[in-house]
Amino acid sequence: MKIAVANGDGIGPEIMAAVLKIFAAAQVPLEYEFVDMGKWVFDKGFSNGMTPEAQRSIESLGLLFKGPMETPKGKGVKSINVTARKTWNTFANKRVFQTLHGVNTVFSKAGIPIDITVVRENIEDTYGGIEHMLTHDVALSRRFITRPGSMQVIKYAFEMARQKKARRISCGHKANIMKLTDGLFLDCFYEVAKDYPDLKADDIIVDDLCMKLVTRPDLFDVVVLTNLQGDIVSDLCAGLVGGLGFAPSANIGDHISIFEAVHGTAPDIAGKNIANPTALLLSGISMLLHVGLTENAGIIENALLYTLESGVHTGDFGDKSKPSVNTTEFADAIISNLGKKPALNAKTVTPNKPGTPTPFKLAQNAMMFSQDNQDVDITGVDMFIDSHEQPMAIAAKCQRHAGVKFKLVNISNRGTQVWPTGSVYTNLVNVYNVRFESLDGGALNQQDVMGLYISLSGNFKICSLEILNAWGGKKSYSLAQGQ
Ligand code: NAI
Repeated sequence: MKIAVANGDGIGPEIMAAVLKIFAAAQVPLEYEFVDMGKWVFDKGFSNGMTPEAQRSIESLGLLFKGPMETPKGKGVKSINVTARKTWNTFANKRVFQTLHGVNTVFSKAGIPIDITVVRENIEDTYGGIEHMLTHDVALSRRFITRPGSMQVIKYAFEMARQKKARRISCGHKANIMKLTDGLFLDCFYEVAKDYPDLKADDIIVDDLCMKLVTRPDLFDVVVLTNLQGDIVSDLCAGLVGGLGFAPSANIGDHISIFEAVHGTAPDIAGKNIANPTALLLSGISMLLHVGLTENAGIIENALLYTLESGVHTGDFGDKSKPSVNTTEFADAIISNLGKKPALNAKTVTPNKPGTPTPFKLAQNAMMFSQDNQDVDITGVDMFIDSHEQPMAIAAKCQRHAGVKFKLVNISNRGTQVWPTGSVYTNLVNVYNVRFESLDGGALNQQDVMGLYISLSGNFKICSLEILNAWGGKKSYSLAQGQ
């Protein structure tokens, strides 16, 4: 089986060399095709950080093992890491955090074992990076949470939890505040849960989750979250088990999967051969398991655990009274321990069952949708206008534009209602949301909305608008605070 390998930037080439050396010593039956991706490819003028040949190789091989890559600072350049995950629809980011014997943490010292798998949605949310300056003062980010996208990652999380015989699967969210976006994700979670009655499924508000993770991490098993919350929670979990040097990550898609460490390029230690290759090695082990090379994965993981247990450590962790080893020496220690088993948490080694390589040529982009938009009515429109005026003055002007189709319902500023009722203690910025709904409650059409837009634009600069919909008669938009 052939896979694509990208060394990455900073410490990437050093830790990748260490891991591939261990793979070679363990006779992992993989061939590697090295591809050009990363900061140095940006610097050569490839605006997405990879060459067309690299893209072709990865799309035909279906598996990418990558080192960390630097995102050039400054506006206009997107992260190659995020681009890769999104372009190839690696919708589930799986990160496993386990107590490693020999890596001292507050919890290992207290005898509290940790075995948490975080599954983070990998495509949507604020990571869409769809952002606009509406005025000099006001920036807007659009946060897409979709039903098919949520179902895809949540189904993956449940299936993985069942396979690992998890005690519990929890959905972390903020649906108490973001009722429609996080609420949709949470609805999908419980919809999928119905198909897994053998698993204890529950949900927890993300701030409470963070508090409980740092006090009782042993209570959690599999946790699934939206993208940004998942990013933060998974770094928090990395801290629980000893830091970024021990945090592996798998980006799973239907056709292409990417395996990488959670950490970045560590520019402060790059080129010194002192980086800890454990996180990349753990990511590589999870890649071997993914392709059915269970025997190689088990042998390498046992050798790693044995090495950690025996106190061998790079400079970033371990017993400081013992001298640390460099990256190459650490890899060599693991190689010399191939075939040995750790005293604690030894992995069962089962014969390899390599799967068939997954990739096949797709003829067109897959469209994901759950059902057609039936029974949907336009009930109104939110107009986001640029104004320094007071709410009463804005309301008076807007009412004149409402015409025979619309009525002005309310005005809010940063999500807080300021008209028809409100408080003078609410501070304002220069973007108001002016909400119009149908005057007689009947359905509207897009021409009605455009008519209102044209009329209102005579008085205000309209920065943005959002059509208000009702599905099956149920209003599908949020209320303003205080409405
Ligand atoms: P970082 O993870 O590279 O470094 C944070 C700290 O952890 C540094 O002190 C570093 O020396 C240490 N560290 C990280 N990995 C280590 C290892 N294997 N062994 C020993 N110490 C290690 O995060 P930072 O500095 O915020 O980002 C640097 C660059 O990496 C940025 O350009 C960023 O965009 C990129 N990055 C790339 C990622 C990826 O490729 N998936 C993920 C995160 C950041």
